[in-house]
Amino acid sequence: MPATIVIGAQWGDEGKGKVVDVLSAGADLVVRFGGGANAGHTIWVGGDKFVLHLIPSGILRPNCVNLIGGGCVIDVTSLLHEIHSLRKAGVAVAPDRLLLADNAHVVTAWHRTVDQLSGAKIGTTGRGIGPAYADKARRIGIRLGDLRDGTFESNLRAQAEFHGAVSRALYPGASLPDFDEQWSLLRAAGVELRDHVRDVVPVLVEARRADRPMVFEGAQGVLLDIDHGTYPYVTSSNTTVAGALGGLGVHMTFQRRIGVVKAYSTRVGHGPFPTELHGEAGERLRQKGQEYGATTGRPRRCGWLDLVQLKRAFAMNEFTHVAVTKLDVLAGLGPLRVAVEEQTDGSMHYVEFEGFDGDLSAATSLDALPAGCRGLIALLERELGARLAMLSTGPGREDVLAVD
Ligand code: GDP
Ligand code: IMO
Ligand code: MG
Repeated sequence: MPATIVIGAQWGDEGKGKVVDVLSAGADLVVRFGGGANAGHTIWVGGDKFVLHLIPSGILRPNCVNLIGGGCVIDVTSLLHEIHSLRKAGVAVAPDRLLLADNAHVVTAWHRTVDQLSGAKIGTTGRGIGPAYADKARRIGIRLGDLRDGTFESNLRAQAEFHGAVSRALYPGASLPDFDEQWSLLRAAGVELRDHVRDVVPVLVEARRADRPMVFEGAQGVLLDIDHGTYPYVTSSNTTVAGALGGLGVHMTFQRRIGVVKAYSTRVGHGPFPTELHGEAGERLRQKGQEYGATTGRPRRCGWLDLVQLKRAFAMNEFTHVAVTKLDVLAGLGPLRVAVEEQTDGSMHYVEFEGFDGDLSAATSLDALPAGCRGLIALLERELGARLAMLSTGPGREDVLAVD
């Protein structure tokens, strides 16, 4: 397997977790390089549902070592909860199966508090992501290595003072975390995670030299990239192929670059959404696709596929492949629409495809798919200049046509 990167080509929740889980069957190493527990990656194995926020989606495959890179921000409480839940479900999460970069920053209780006080205008997940990245840039961040070594007291005090002063001025009466309580909690987490934390650069360099099969798992999506997305309605990290190298700190050649495209569009939180369907049409898509956030449970905004946006995302990232997910959701919804052009008044011009009925997961080849599905896939391959890597026809591992 060539080094493969999997990136959400829209606003997140495209089904990256499912795609990475399928690819992980053939991987030695699965790597997250950005974001934090704002991500929610859902994987169904048999009848069991796993929602991963920080841990790479390769954890469910015994053949994979999983690595969280230095560009991520780690809420250790959330991470420990994830580790404990996986262990309870019988998944091995030993230190040699989950490696944590010592330079990844820690999301603290102050970050969560400030995010919850100030994030409403963007519609953030409230997981403390923006404030954690801001404190990293402010040079008062705490890194996992500091936590392991117990050398984080002065920066924790700096955070408590800074956020305490700002919050008291801007949000009088807001309740703030207790320093001693957070200090002890983080110390204990540092001890518990100690054996997982290390300099991951040699691991990545060795894997690259040995040409090991690797999957790099994106979080969020291209349009949520802090520099290249729909600013200010974005997350606080770089979510693109270009951003991955910054998060890893180790150069990699991603021979296979997969853009994951949900067969329609969704967005959680505020910001522009040119193909959004309001009212009953949007609600039908939401119900059919069960479009509720895997992290916050919020209803996702739904709309048609937007080829204008996708062409930009594919060109930026030079995706070699496209993975199409949730096409099954469109069954029985009547004619399918795809926006192909933005008009001078800002409205979108759509092309229509024949609707289809029935269960796509029964199809064992692309040729066996209904004409509307084949038309949509052909349009995507042609217009995006990428080959179909896989077509996902349901949430389960086995609901997939792996093509290229
Ligand atoms: P991610 O953040 O990109 O990993 O995506 P999420 O897990 O947040 O959201 C995708 C949702 O769609 C999850 O509930 C998946 O179980 C589900 N899913 C993924 N692929 C398919 C598919 O092809 N069909 C259907 N019906 N559901 C899918
Ligand atoms: P996955 O990896 C969908 C959105 C939030 C909000 C904006 C900023 O599951 O695809 P943040 O908490 O990051 O500061 O919120 O970004 N957002 C996501 N939307 N999927 C995600 O991750 C998201 N991570 C953040 O809803 O609009
Ligand atoms: Mg998600």
